[in-house]
Amino acid sequence: MVKPQLPQFPEPMWRENMTLPSFPALNESIKADIGIVGGGITGITAAYLLAKQNFNVVLLDAGPVLNGTTGHTTAKITAQHGLIYDELINHFGLEKASLYYKAAEEAKQFIEQTVNEHRINCNFSKEDAYIYTNDGSYISDLEKEKEAYDQLKIDNQLTDKIPLDIPIKSALIMHNQAQFHPLEYLKVLLNEGLKKQLTVYENTIATDIEYVKHTNIITREGHRVTCRYVIVASHFPFYDRQSFYFARMYPERSYLVAGKSPLNFPGGMYINAETPTRSIRSAKFEGEDIILIGGEHHKTGQGKSTMAHYEALQKFAQDHFKIDKIDYRWSAQDLTTLDKVPYIGRMTKGDKTVLTATGFRKWGMTSGTIAAKILADNIQDQENPYSDLFSPARFEADPGLKKFMEINADVAKHLIKGKLEFTKNTVSELATDDATVTRMDGKRVGVYKDEEDTLHMVDTTCTHMGCEVTWNSGDRTWDCPCHGSRFDYTGEVVEGPAKKPLTKIVENN
Ligand code: FES
Repeated sequence: MVKPQLPQFPEPMWRENMTLPSFPALNESIKADIGIVGGGITGITAAYLLAKQNFNVVLLDAGPVLNGTTGHTTAKITAQHGLIYDELINHFGLEKASLYYKAAEEAKQFIEQTVNEHRINCNFSKEDAYIYTNDGSYISDLEKEKEAYDQLKIDNQLTDKIPLDIPIKSALIMHNQAQFHPLEYLKVLLNEGLKKQLTVYENTIATDIEYVKHTNIITREGHRVTCRYVIVASHFPFYDRQSFYFARMYPERSYLVAGKSPLNFPGGMYINAETPTRSIRSAKFEGEDIILIGGEHHKTGQGKSTMAHYEALQKFAQDHFKIDKIDYRWSAQDLTTLDKVPYIGRMTKGDKTVLTATGFRKWGMTSGTIAAKILADNIQDQENPYSDLFSPARFEADPGLKKFMEINADVAKHLIKGKLEFTKNTVSELATDDATVTRMDGKRVGVYKDEEDTLHMVDTTCTHMGCEVTWNSGDRTWDCPCHGSRFDYTGEVVEGPAKKPLTKIVENN
């Protein structure tokens, strides 16, 4: 059997052949009713909803819009967020678990209605969602989850058969879920907003929020957006105001490959209960069926060579779907909160002008959509039934405290480990398109050799809180194991919480 080649560079298929509008960078200080930072599903849906209500909305994105986590999703629109409902009932009670389900369900219905209202051609299709297991020790977890579904009146079925030709022992179906092309959908929402009072600026990095009479978003170039409300929808909140979001969430990376299979895909969206995760769906892409296989999650900056994760998915694709050519590969970063429920609402308890939405785990299509609805309601002083459930100010001691200690013990471990690590690697043996960590004048230095054999050297000390970054070969980035900041090989920030680039090292000859 010939092993299919992986594409040299990671690129999500969603952006392929998409003509997205482009926007200028902000080059002056401006005013708006509402400033939104982050052009993913939360930011764009909120902008659409608020522009529809005739608010003057300004949306800023650090790069091009729709190129963050939303552009790197599996795009499943489902309330089946892994094995979660039994856990939610145990930790929060039936009422809150029911609200969590209803929120996801409402997000799904909103997307469907919006697709119908604007006749959006985004391959929206209704699908059943399956959690399956081939590991006997997970069968009882699926049974408990089924009981939770029954208590929550979720349309379901427990079965020992799924339509895919992969070995399973048990599977739990949540009927009537959906999938789509996320960028085709959001492009229309963006354009609808632009027809109203929405203005978008790309390549505009927000670095701070200041309160001087009004709330001001400050950009890296020193420009201000003065507004009544700010929505921080930048995946990891770019602004923290001593709320310690970095200590209340942990980042994970996961991987996706996509390719054409000679086998007929029977429909449905699938995810297994055990690890390593395998998440499977098909998509119509340029008139052909393509199968997406995701999984292999691990904490950012920790674990084996990142290319090994792509290779494991590639092998699964070949073994189970006879996919001989991987057309696309890409990865995504997800944030999980202490109690697995997203943080949506006021960034800090006392201030109603700055709102945030983050910590969607891997379920950003529904959570991002409901976040936009909650925040739009908050801004308009309208009741929203889900506000309390998702409020960032909540504190549920049982799951929260234990996880808080786990997350921060892990951070402390990596902070110390990185400092003590002895590295004796030399740059002379470094291959093209590879990186190593070495020492220079006693300092830990990361060195990447590009295709032209030019060396790019950076101080590996993360500019967020000083942990040591590690090389991510699959994406050519330096990733921080503590709170998930990522930097490109020249040291520029790809993903926060870090705001400043890694210090570039210039060799003194
Ligand atoms: Fe916090 Fe690097 S992301 S120390």
